[in-house]
Amino acid sequence: MSVGTYSLPKLPYAYNALEPSISAQIMELHHSKHHQTYVTNLNNALKTYATATSSNDIAGQIALQNAIKFNGGGHINHSLFWDNLTPASSAEASPQTAATLMAAITKTWSSFDEFKAAFTKALLGLQGSGWGWLVKDGGSLRIVTTKDQDPVVGGEVPIFGVDMWEHAYYLQYLNGKAAYIENIWKVINWKTAETRFNGGRDDVFKVLKAAI
Ligand SMILES: [Fe+2]
Repeated sequence: MSVGTYSLPKLPYAYNALEPSISAQIMELHHSKHHQTYVTNLNNALKTYATATSSNDIAGQIALQNAIKFNGGGHINHSLFWDNLTPASSAEASPQTAATLMAAITKTWSSFDEFKAAFTKALLGLQGSGWGWLVKDGGSLRIVTTKDQDPVVGGEVPIFGVDMWEHAYYLQYLNGKAAYIENIWKVINWKTAETRFNGGRDDVFKVLKAAI
């Protein structure tokens, strides 16, 4: 049984491109070390899983479920995250580039500011490590949080996510979670968000296919 190999995607910008919102040091460590580790561990777990499968070792298969979920989720979440960020000076960082999505946000939360307040509150309410996501669920928008590296599951389409693990901000913001969130609004890629909003779940996840 051949197993696909996942690889670390290239960032669509330089490590220092999101400064001052996110430091180059954080971006480099986060991408080249943290994300790479999820990819490496995912590939190892899948290879071992294939061996367990070919030898009909159900106990061995079950033992690997957590490793696949955690590292596969880490790979999915970070890949989506890099693509939903952009330098603050780029045109994509302007919410005006997401006309359709912005209309839906305003309809759901009354105003963009109300939405930002609700999203920020959800992020600050996360206990421990996790993520906050704006998702499209059928025809409506929702804010959801996921624990650890759980990806957005079910039929929702992730529009954009914010990594709330300490590795995403601590070197720069220390315990200042609120300041990290305030600054990350400046580097959200609204063009990517608009594209995801207008597409389906398969469109969002197609960039994550393994190379065989
Ligand atoms: Fe992360």
